[in-house]
Amino acid sequence: MRMRVSKLVTIERHIAEEEHAHKGASGEFSRLMRDMLLAIRLISRDVRRAGLNDVLGITDGTNVHGEQVKKLDMLAHDTIFRAMDHGGHLCVMASEESEELIMIPPEYARGKYVLLFDPLDGSSNIDVNVTIGTIFSIYHRVTPDYVGDGTLEDVLQPGSRQIAAGYVCYGSSTQLVYTTGNGVDIFTYDPTIGEFLLSDEKIQMPNRGKCYSVNEGNSSKWDDNLKKYIDYLKTPSADKRRPYSLRYVGTSIADLHRTIMYGGIFMYPADKSNPKGKLRMMYECNPLAMIVEQAGGMASDGVHRILDKRPGSIHERSPLFIGSKDDVLEAEAFLRGEFPPGGEEA
Ligand code: AHG
Ligand code: MN
Ligand code: MN
Repeated sequence: MRMRVSKLVTIERHIAEEEHAHKGASGEFSRLMRDMLLAIRLISRDVRRAGLNDVLGITDGTNVHGEQVKKLDMLAHDTIFRAMDHGGHLCVMASEESEELIMIPPEYARGKYVLLFDPLDGSSNIDVNVTIGTIFSIYHRVTPDYVGDGTLEDVLQPGSRQIAAGYVCYGSSTQLVYTTGNGVDIFTYDPTIGEFLLSDEKIQMPNRGKCYSVNEGNSSKWDDNLKKYIDYLKTPSADKRRPYSLRYVGTSIADLHRTIMYGGIFMYPADKSNPKGKLRMMYECNPLAMIVEQAGGMASDGVHRILDKRPGSIHERSPLFIGSKDDVLEAEAFLRGEFPPGGEEA
């Protein structure tokens, strides 16, 4: 449900008001977000000019996943690193585009926060002018030494320990969807004044939708119960609740944003060639799961709550079923072999 906002509030003022509400807040987090917002403004500018300057096309590089890294991925990665490495807020970073942890350069102070990010989500859509995005996730460090380098222990925390999560949609407008654990707010960028303005606050998603979002091209490799679930969604029901419509952009934050605003379910399931799914836990599944839960939805790997999973490595993948609560619960019931749920005709 949209809570459209008419008052004029910039994200900096919103963050300052949140900081004020946190007794004893040092302002450290606000300064971290100020630097992150600079990076997002610069990436938004580069994304919107991508067709004009030579950032399109394939680099000769491939990332840890063996995927061709497009120039815009690396540009976005470098932009975030250069905006975030010297502020003194972070003890370590991790990025989809870096196999190893990203240490803070020795000449800069370390701080108490950890930043994980997917600098450019939806890379396959860069060259065809389809919405792409940036995803970020922020934790407190767990190692007690508050001045030294962060470690893998500081990074590999369950998603339930995130203190903030956000994604940016570089779409018809640039929108930042963001939570620090007390609701989800949406800020829309006005490039003419360089400000992110609050456009929706404390959004709550419908308990059920009419859209499902999955790459059906993988269906030959799916588990039989998953095939039954997708067929169920496509089968007309007496109450006209089904069939659902299929919508699939191929950029997780775009498919998720539509799911949050309209309801429904977005899935990237495991399959025979991707036994743990495709999406990465630390900088895709976890931040998206925090945001969806804060908006009243649900996020699981088909069995377990995403935010409860303990990650074993930076780039660990997880199956993802995320969206409206009743839709995700129904998907989980099918995956357990309980169908049709509640005896309803399939
Ligand atoms: P990234 O560009 O950061 O690697 O993410 C791409 C992901 C995700 O955005 C999207 O949901 C998924 O890849 C699409 O995968 P398929 O093309 O296999 O459907
Ligand atoms: Mn991604
Ligand atoms: Mn990416």
